[in-house]
Amino acid sequence: MCGIMGYVGPQQAGPILVDGLKRLEYRGYDSAGIAVSNGDIRVQKAEGKIANLESLIEGDQPNGTIGIGHTRWATHGAPTDANAHPHADPSGEFVVVHNGIIENFQSIRDELADRGAEFSSETDSELLAHLVAQEYDGDLVEAVRRTVALSEGAYAMVVMSKLEPEKIVAVRKISPLVVGLGDGETYLASDIPAILHRTRDFLIIEDDEMVIVTAEGATVETIGGDRIEREVTHIDWDAGQAEKGGYEHFMLKEIHEQPDVITETLGGRLSEDGTVRLEGVEFDDAYIEALDRVWITACGTAYHAGLIGQEIFRRVLRLPANVEYAHELRYANPIIGPCELMIAISQSGETADTLAAARIAPDHGARMLAITNVVGSTLSRYADDVLYTRAGPEISVASTKAYMAMLIGQYLLALRLGAARGTVDEELAQAVSHGLHQLPGAIEEVLGREQEAISAAEEIVDAEDVYFIGRGLDYAIAMEGSLKLKEISYLHSEAMPAGELKHGTLALITKDVPVIVVLTQRAVYDKTISAVQEIKARGGRIIAVAYDTDTEIEKYADTVMRIPDMDDLLAPVAAVVPLQLLAYHVARLRGHDIDQPRNLAKSVTVE
Ligand code: AGP
Ligand code: GLU
Repeated sequence: MCGIMGYVGPQQAGPILVDGLKRLEYRGYDSAGIAVSNGDIRVQKAEGKIANLESLIEGDQPNGTIGIGHTRWATHGAPTDANAHPHADPSGEFVVVHNGIIENFQSIRDELADRGAEFSSETDSELLAHLVAQEYDGDLVEAVRRTVALSEGAYAMVVMSKLEPEKIVAVRKISPLVVGLGDGETYLASDIPAILHRTRDFLIIEDDEMVIVTAEGATVETIGGDRIEREVTHIDWDAGQAEKGGYEHFMLKEIHEQPDVITETLGGRLSEDGTVRLEGVEFDDAYIEALDRVWITACGTAYHAGLIGQEIFRRVLRLPANVEYAHELRYANPIIGPCELMIAISQSGETADTLAAARIAPDHGARMLAITNVVGSTLSRYADDVLYTRAGPEISVASTKAYMAMLIGQYLLALRLGAARGTVDEELAQAVSHGLHQLPGAIEEVLGREQEAISAAEEIVDAEDVYFIGRGLDYAIAMEGSLKLKEISYLHSEAMPAGELKHGTLALITKDVPVIVVLTQRAVYDKTISAVQEIKARGGRIIAVAYDTDTEIEKYADTVMRIPDMDDLLAPVAAVVPLQLLAYHVARLRGHDIDQPRNLAKSVTVE
């Protein structure tokens, strides 16, 4: 999820690269670096924000008119100078910047180490520089091609070599890459906004393509080596639009990034047969077998992700699992035993309440596992084990893609724990693995039906109160849908278990009060329909989230937002998407500041 820059032309490359990186800082900002060549390659890099790199090169300008740069969103190794990109091979003849993850990182590293290689970072990216050097026999493009064949995963890589000093070679395997065409100069970037003030003519590189960039222009090829005639795309977005990838708001962009976030979070961790390998989660099978209980603690949307986790752990592990608000847990005198695992979930890893609750675990001799999106965050440093969610930087205050990644992380954890405890057999592991791998496609389908959410938004935009109901996992999704709506539309809304409605809140259901019902849990479907009937009898309006094959709901619902049929256990991942879109479109219709809603902050670092 990093930002990438490249330049070749008549100007000094250093300032152009740093300027581009600054415009990409929203993609990652834990360290940054550039490599500039004038025949010899010089690498300069610095931990922290790009301002640090800027000051570094200000007093010590690199000399050269070709170069590559990177702003990092760490996945492998802490945010340090050494782990910052660009990475060089031991000879220093090849430098690489890389966005994404090399999934067979460990086996490549082991093989290189067996041959005596020494590494100067903990990253997967450095291995690419070693591989390009190893594969080079006089043709950089061929060396890169062979490196791609050896490296699994979803990524983009950019390579420069002292041995072929006039060109930059780049590859796209899922992670974005564009070429900007200038007059006698050419730019390369992960995103258009990095260079939009320099050119409006772009070559958009597609998956499994490579591009050879020189000052005169760029040649696009398939990874296999077939030449591609790519048409020039003229971009007339303004800079703000470009930063959002053409979407009106970061929130909408982030909602649409969710299929990729699932792919990234699963990447290299889940095999077809359901075997899970989680780097950073160090406990062994004996520890898992002896576990008595799982605690989950978090706040806000992360707490709602924990509600899903609680239910999955109970179902899949048959193990007591409790999710608690972090700000409650810390003052609740919890009775935690040494054979219990505390899972703290936090996108930012900096939420004060969650940090405080997480620290209770070691006081009781229990282990603490962090699920977080930010490598090197305070929570990750407190934790015994860390599962990184790989959602990339989330800019919108209302969390969407980070929540999605938290769900995926918990499914992976449940499979890992279930295998060790013997509650997940081969058949179940295989089925869940298959289902998880299908999810990106299913979410694409749901995103393709945005119009259903727009229609539902038009129905509720003028309401005074909105209710969300569901049972079990559907209740957890109702909670998240309700919070999203509150945060950005400022509409009063409330979520409750469907069975609870008749115990009081039904008094508030009058003619035309909208009730949003989530209906993915087949085992309790009829029970939830009873609540729907109670609402209809009072004149309430029903908006449902239901499977494609659910025809029953049409008898009761005024509007249905559909998701593809899938296993109930995985359905929350799909069911939340229409509710995110619903909240977004209500807020848009109401003309609110969607990415920065009133009174809220992205990271809540006070208690
Ligand atoms: C989500 O939309 C909210 N902005 C908020 O509830 C958030 O999830 C909560 O503050 C926890 O943040 P964290 O994941 O960074 O700990
Ligand atoms: N996996 C690489 C790293 O951890 C690249 C991360 C990124 O995309 O910034 O350094």
